[in-house]
Amino acid sequence: MTAERLKEKYRSFLKDNLRKKVDFSQTDQFRAIPPPPVEKPPKANALTIDLTGPETGWPGLPAVDLKTAIARRVSRRRFSNKPLSLEELSFLLWATQGIRDNPRTARVFRTVPSAGCRHALETYLALFRVRGLEEGLYRYLPLSHQLVLEHTPEQLEDRVIEAALGQTFIGRTAVTFIWTTIPYRMEWRYGLASYKVIALDAGHICQNLYLACEAIGAGTCAVAAYDQNKADRLLRVDGTEEFVIYMAPVGRYS
Ligand SMILES: Cc1cc2nc3c(=O)[nH]c(=O)nc-3n(C[C@H](O)[C@H](O)[C@H](O)COP(=O)(O)O)c2cc1C
Repeated sequence: MTAERLKEKYRSFLKDNLRKKVDFSQTDQFRAIPPPPVEKPPKANALTIDLTGPETGWPGLPAVDLKTAIARRVSRRRFSNKPLSLEELSFLLWATQGIRDNPRTARVFRTVPSAGCRHALETYLALFRVRGLEEGLYRYLPLSHQLVLEHTPEQLEDRVIEAALGQTFIGRTAVTFIWTTIPYRMEWRYGLASYKVIALDAGHICQNLYLACEAIGAGTCAVAAYDQNKADRLLRVDGTEEFVIYMAPVGRYS
């Protein structure tokens, strides 16, 4: 394929012409197939950790106004060894994927928008330095506002760095957010018109993470350059029904 044809093909991903071609009467939603779970269920007997929720007012967090947080926002890539508190982590998870309303239905509103309220993303944490928690690979459970321990890989720091194509700052930090998508959650409603909106949704999440980090005196950097297979293997996701799409290390900056 010529460079021009390739450009045309891949640019079309950004356009909304597909909407006219998709037969929405063939989507699983239209065919009355029940929606997939809004959250990937945790494995039976997995260790779960309760997080502190917005009802507590997060008394240990500083009060930073939105204007200041927006003005401070920058991609930060140098982090200190200082840990985050569980309260800070709770706030960051709520800010990026927390439930706002309707916690038990097929349409669960969160702190970020999502096309059709489908929220086709899961949040994993490569957790290194958070007070009270062991190093390991965790996942956020928005419905119960908890963490679940997925597994405890050997040499987690090195493996995260390797998965991010050697970008060392991603593993030398307190915690690295790794977002996967479960595309069927979006495909159930939008069919082939799902993929652009999944990517847009990921952007909203990461922007909330930037602002929430700045609000607590921490920093982050969006990372979209990574080795797909290594990242998927690290998380033990299958690479088809669920795969990594975005990452962001979080820590106190030095
Ligand atoms: C979608 C996306 C992907 C990015 N991927 C990386 C990355 O892989 N590595 C990196 O160091 N920075 C990455 N960045 C950060 C950009 O380099 C950064 O946002 C840009 O240089 C502007 O700087 P600022 O965020 O401080 O304003 C990414 C940013 C976005 C939005």
